[in-house]
Amino acid sequence: MTVNVNTLRPLAGSGRKLYIETYGCQMNVGDTEIVVSLMQREGYVYTERMEDADVILINTCSIRDNAEQRIWGRLAELKGLRRRRPGLVVGILGCMAERLREKLLDGATGVDVVAGPDAYRDLPRLVREAEAGGKGVNVLLSTEETYAEIAPVRLDRNGVSAFVAIMRGCNNYCSYCVVPYTRGRERSRDASTIVAEAQSLFDNGYREVTLLGQNVNSYRTGDVDFPELLRRVASVSPLLRVRFATSHPKDMSDRLLETMASMPNICRSIHLPAQSGATTMLERMNRKYTREWYLGRIAAIRRYMPDCSITTDLIAGFSGETEEEHRETLSLMREVGYDFAYMFKYSERPGTYAQRHLPDDVPDDVKSRRLQEIIALQNELGLASYRRDVGREFEVLVEGESKRDANQLSGRTSQNKVVVFDRGEHRVGDYVRVRITGCTAATLFGEALE
Ligand code: SAH
Ligand code: SF4
Ligand code: F3S
Repeated sequence: MTVNVNTLRPLAGSGRKLYIETYGCQMNVGDTEIVVSLMQREGYVYTERMEDADVILINTCSIRDNAEQRIWGRLAELKGLRRRRPGLVVGILGCMAERLREKLLDGATGVDVVAGPDAYRDLPRLVREAEAGGKGVNVLLSTEETYAEIAPVRLDRNGVSAFVAIMRGCNNYCSYCVVPYTRGRERSRDASTIVAEAQSLFDNGYREVTLLGQNVNSYRTGDVDFPELLRRVASVSPLLRVRFATSHPKDMSDRLLETMASMPNICRSIHLPAQSGATTMLERMNRKYTREWYLGRIAAIRRYMPDCSITTDLIAGFSGETEEEHRETLSLMREVGYDFAYMFKYSERPGTYAQRHLPDDVPDDVKSRRLQEIIALQNELGLASYRRDVGREFEVLVEGESKRDANQLSGRTSQNKVVVFDRGEHRVGDYVRVRITGCTAATLFGEALE
């Protein structure tokens, strides 16, 4: 057992086992690593086996109704386990905890702990309360919490790439979106702690960091804005690749593009969610840009970095969507030629502006058909993008063995495309020059050139 030298009091966890499951976006993945760190400090031991756990935490997502349905399904599955293991503590973290605190505590599927995204420092106390037979609840949102000095426990274990959260919350209030309500106000994490974390990752063998936030390009602390932060992180070493997600088109400045273009270790890959290709629709979505503005930003990206990949998010069937607006989304996709896209059917979220003021009036079969058209087009565009790479050379950062064949390695290009090639003498964490010889719609195949 470890001893907490700071306070010399017995640790609450004292070797009890913690299991945690994560749903939703990369922010949640990063938060889970912070939660494990906070719980380990209290003497809990992380386990990958749910059957061994004394405490089960589920880090949840509310972005669409089906995300929440999955969690309810998971809680129903846990009911049996709870019956067999009377001392077991089950807790809900994350966005659904924030949105559905009361509902999560009652009824047959009721849980013992509910902790919102800004309440994780309080988790050891909440779990203790549950262990004592009560309920541990804290869903207070903060305007300041960034967990700035907490060293996340890296659970991914490829040892090459890691997420680093640089901001939390969102102030954009896109009319369809629940995030500003579940994550609270936007706040940026102190720059020196971000650079220190990147440095320590690099010193421990990591070769790639992804800076995370709902809207990273509005990052600001004191006189450090996002381009400056990116420059500082990329200056840790030319061997450290830097990625970031997500950017909002309204804040995609030329200065950011200039900074990217000036440092080759900032990856040539931008995720720029369009949501829709129709200005009238973008207005209902409260996205604060037009189709023309968006295409102007795409042109700027191509000007600064002709080899940059561009990916996006699209929503089909939002309130009042006409056939013409849908066709404008398809034409935007063709005009940009996205390398990859996340595509969703609109799901009305309680409490959002849209739920209160804009009817969810596109029939479900129409939403589905439009989504299918978007997906079919993206399959074409994605395959074309991968085919264009055949015959070209790329620097690939090796992340692991290929899942299919242990004699092959798998890594990614600066453009974020997966490349599989023969292992040779190369190792995980190496940069390897690879010539692309073939592809599918999601993978490039190649041969190492050295
Ligand atoms: N902050 C990021 C994305 C956050 S959520 C951004 O603004 O780009 C990820 C994606 O989920 C969004 O880009 C959007 O495409 C989708 N999404 C959000 N709310 C949704 C809803 N109510 N229905 C369907 N898709 C939604
Ligand atoms: Fe949601 Fe819009 Fe904020 Fe993204 S920018 S998290 S879509 S409100
Ligand atoms: Fe989901 Fe919350 Fe992320 S709603 S997408 S987990 S910010």
